[in-house]
Amino acid sequence: MQFRQSERRIDGLTVDQLTSYRAWLQYREKDQEKYTKTVAPYLKAVSVTVDNDIIERALDEWTVGLNEMFKQRPAVVRETISEGLAITLDPSLPNESYQLKTTEKRIQLTAKDANGVLYGVFHLLRLLQMEESLQHLSMTEVPKNPVRMINQWDDMNGEVERGYAGESFFYKDYQFIKDRQRIYDYARLLAAAGINAISINNVNVHENETDLIFDRYLMDVKQTSDIFNQFGITLFLSINYAAPMEKGIASADPLDKDVQAFWKARAQAIYQVIPNFGGFLVKADSENRPGPFTYGRNHAEGANMLAEALEPYGGLVIWRCFVYNCKQDWRDRQTDRARAAYDHFMPLDGAFKENVVLQIKNGPMDFQVREPVSPLIGSLENTNHFLEFQIAQEYLGQQKHLVYLVPQWKEVLSFDTYSKGMGTYVKDIVAGEVFKNGHAGIVAVSNVGSDYNWTGHLFAQLNLYGYGRMIWNPELTAEAIALEWVKQTFGNDPFVIKTIMQMVMPSWEIYENYTSPLGIGWMVNISHHYGPNIDGYEYDKWGTYHFADRNGVGVDRTIETGTGFTGQFHKENARVYNDLTRCPDELLLFFHHVPYTHQLHSGKTVIQHIYDTHFRGVEQVKAMIDAWQSLKEAIDPTRYTSVMERLEHQLYMAKEWRDTVNTYFYRKSGINDLHGRTIY
Ligand code: GCU
Repeated sequence: MQFRQSERRIDGLTVDQLTSYRAWLQYREKDQEKYTKTVAPYLKAVSVTVDNDIIERALDEWTVGLNEMFKQRPAVVRETISEGLAITLDPSLPNESYQLKTTEKRIQLTAKDANGVLYGVFHLLRLLQMEESLQHLSMTEVPKNPVRMINQWDDMNGEVERGYAGESFFYKDYQFIKDRQRIYDYARLLAAAGINAISINNVNVHENETDLIFDRYLMDVKQTSDIFNQFGITLFLSINYAAPMEKGIASADPLDKDVQAFWKARAQAIYQVIPNFGGFLVKADSENRPGPFTYGRNHAEGANMLAEALEPYGGLVIWRCFVYNCKQDWRDRQTDRARAAYDHFMPLDGAFKENVVLQIKNGPMDFQVREPVSPLIGSLENTNHFLEFQIAQEYLGQQKHLVYLVPQWKEVLSFDTYSKGMGTYVKDIVAGEVFKNGHAGIVAVSNVGSDYNWTGHLFAQLNLYGYGRMIWNPELTAEAIALEWVKQTFGNDPFVIKTIMQMVMPSWEIYENYTSPLGIGWMVNISHHYGPNIDGYEYDKWGTYHFADRNGVGVDRTIETGTGFTGQFHKENARVYNDLTRCPDELLLFFHHVPYTHQLHSGKTVIQHIYDTHFRGVEQVKAMIDAWQSLKEAIDPTRYTSVMERLEHQLYMAKEWRDTVNTYFYRKSGINDLHGRTIY
């Protein structure tokens, strides 16, 4: 199949829409003569001695990028050059890494492997887009996380679970979409952000979708895999644990010989067609998905059976830890969904095969605006695991609200678990460094769909880009990442950059201000998870969500009087969270039930804090709108208008949140002597 490297034309998109579609690979023409002059010698030729698909793509990208930015097509040559870009491989470097060194007229890109070449070329293109100097480059880049993965939650009927950017661009009506240009362009964007793995179907595998591992779809899967492979991305599939039963076998018991034979045959068939297939992603015994529990087997027995089938081919079983079965009575205050993942998986630490990787959501609940870090991370010492984030903003405004997520994720990565004493950070654990894991890395739920700008809200592109850059190098600041994105997406006008940075950087805090305060979480409508509904989850059967009554609010998760969740952390953190006087304000109500008049470290009472933050949040959204308005002349009308429409909706929703939350707590608490505020 022939793909266009540069999307100068996409069926159905206007020229302006294409600008949004090009995301961070704008390659806008450079009119700065001075800059063009300084980089000119480097752009003359490119020499490369090795060849393969990935390196071909890197060369295409370099040629197209230079042509678009500088109207210059470098000659591709095999011999050494004195001017231009010289690419060589050095197998002694770490996997996927590269070095960039420039002399006066030459850039030397030395990479470990083809992926390293691709990332090195994208690095140079990033610098060129940002109009940064190429002189005196001398750096080595090694990705921190070996696996840097995206999970698509696409269903084969064409919907995307928790998708906020249109339909799937992989499937429609139980067929793969024939025109795969969009997948190709997606792969380019992902590679430019450093992603190297993807699963292409929803973790909830529905009826008919098991055929993804059968002849009916296997060639389509292969063709999709081939596209991603050209960009250094390995393809995985989600599977239904009960697949054997869909195909006429009496059970899905992992110890059943027929079941084992079924999976072995499937693995063999898949690898015959796709030799570098990545493996299976599995959601089992969670939210009504089938799993080994039905047969009295545990997660390890379930996962290991699949691992055995994939082992001969080097495939992985990625087994999700998103489970929340616990005692099922919300009236009993010991019930705590937050405990579930740890309670289920800690006893199995060390029982999983080497090619099994547990996938752990960043918090113990479910991608809320604020959660503590999952205590499984830093506790599992003998089991490979990935950390799971969600780029889709399921509980963070569903890509209608501008929320930059990297600051939230960076808090997770820089959390000190104290697992091996002070300084045992999440970022080092999940990279596999602390426990010397054979497989390690970070995964995130994607936020793209068939909308012309990929992500619904244009600014949600930043979360996808930022995710990739952050997991490549967790030492990059949230600000540095945003700055890269802004410059590549909108150009180098200092006023535009400054204004957008002012909108982006505080946006997570702003969202938190007008939604769920102090770590409570939830308070949304059940099922679709959008908009305020304070008791939306409170009477759910898993029920420890906020426990607001006339005397107080928050969930007691302490060891002595609560659910004991705090005890799942290493003692240094357990002591802090368990102690009302030491628990950080932003997580207070996650860990403690307190009276509304309880005084926070900030000096305010809980109720005053709730009121004030909700009023402030709305004002902050207004300021975002003013900021965006000031860019009207500087941004193309399509991007300007689409963002403005969403900001206006965000303001409307922020007000609704403010009024719903404040009224609720006003009524519950009966406190009406708040300073300077009149509520109804
Ligand atoms: C959330 C989300 C579901 C999803 C689940 C998961 O609960 O709402 O749609 O299936 O997470 O991560 O498996």
